[in-house]
Amino acid sequence: MGPPGAGKGTQAERLVKEFGMKHLSSGDIFRAEKASNSELGLRLARYMDAGELVPDDVVVEMMAKAVTQVDGGLMLDGFPRTVAQGEALDKQLAEAASPLDAVVVITADDDIIVKRIAGRRACPLCGRGYHVTFMPPRREGYCDDCDNAELTQRSDDCEATVRQRLEAYRAQTEAVIGYYKGCDSLAIVEVDGNRPAEVVADEVTQALASLDAARV
Ligand code: AP5
Repeated sequence: MGPPGAGKGTQAERLVKEFGMKHLSSGDIFRAEKASNSELGLRLARYMDAGELVPDDVVVEMMAKAVTQVDGGLMLDGFPRTVAQGEALDKQLAEAASPLDAVVVITADDDIIVKRIAGRRACPLCGRGYHVTFMPPRREGYCDDCDNAELTQRSDDCEATVRQRLEAYRAQTEAVIGYYKGCDSLAIVEVDGNRPAEVVADEVTQALASLDAARV
């Protein structure tokens, strides 16, 4: 969890490699639906392009389906984002006898968030994320892994929309952290995401590894 641009996707990409889990990003799932130009995709686009949250009923239905399709460890990114979504997820995981182990909360300051989001780019083929300044590709504008794939920018990555997304985070998503802090069995790992990605990754990896070790 964390505000837009805190580094959720960046850290998730690293952590799934380290811990052998599947990365499930609600934003990526919704963007794929949006790109298909389906009726649902056009409905999602109205909220996403305005920087608003997609309504809970739509989110819960789409994410429940995605979670069910995963066999094994799972790292959720961007979901749940409201307490109602958290409750629906808990119910689904309880039915599967597979509760959450930990919640990682990454924080970042607003001015850093805006800079990160303005410079974010991604490969349309493999999805790898970059930043024009902080994590540039070897050849400017092109993916390191997919030789001739030109990097693209998300349609909701303009400053006005980012500010709206930050507002939605404060108004609706921060309460989810309080909801999880009320669950005794759940480990909460809070990290300062203002620092370089490698430093943040090391801290989260160590915290999750020590949870794993404590369980053995
Ligand atoms: P979503 O795709 O989840 O976007 P977000 O939460 O706004 O988060 P971002 O993807 O912008 O940021 P991130 O924290 O992953 O940062 P990243 O690692 O890429 O959601 C998009 C929209 O979908 C929402 O606005 C909403 O409409 C809808 N939606 C999604 N889920 C929903 C839900 N559950 N309920 C309702 N609606 C939902 O990093 C950003 C940039 O910074 C990158 O360029 C990266 O290279 C760079 N960077 C990262 N970390 C560092 C670092 N430590 N140092 C320097 N640079 C860094």
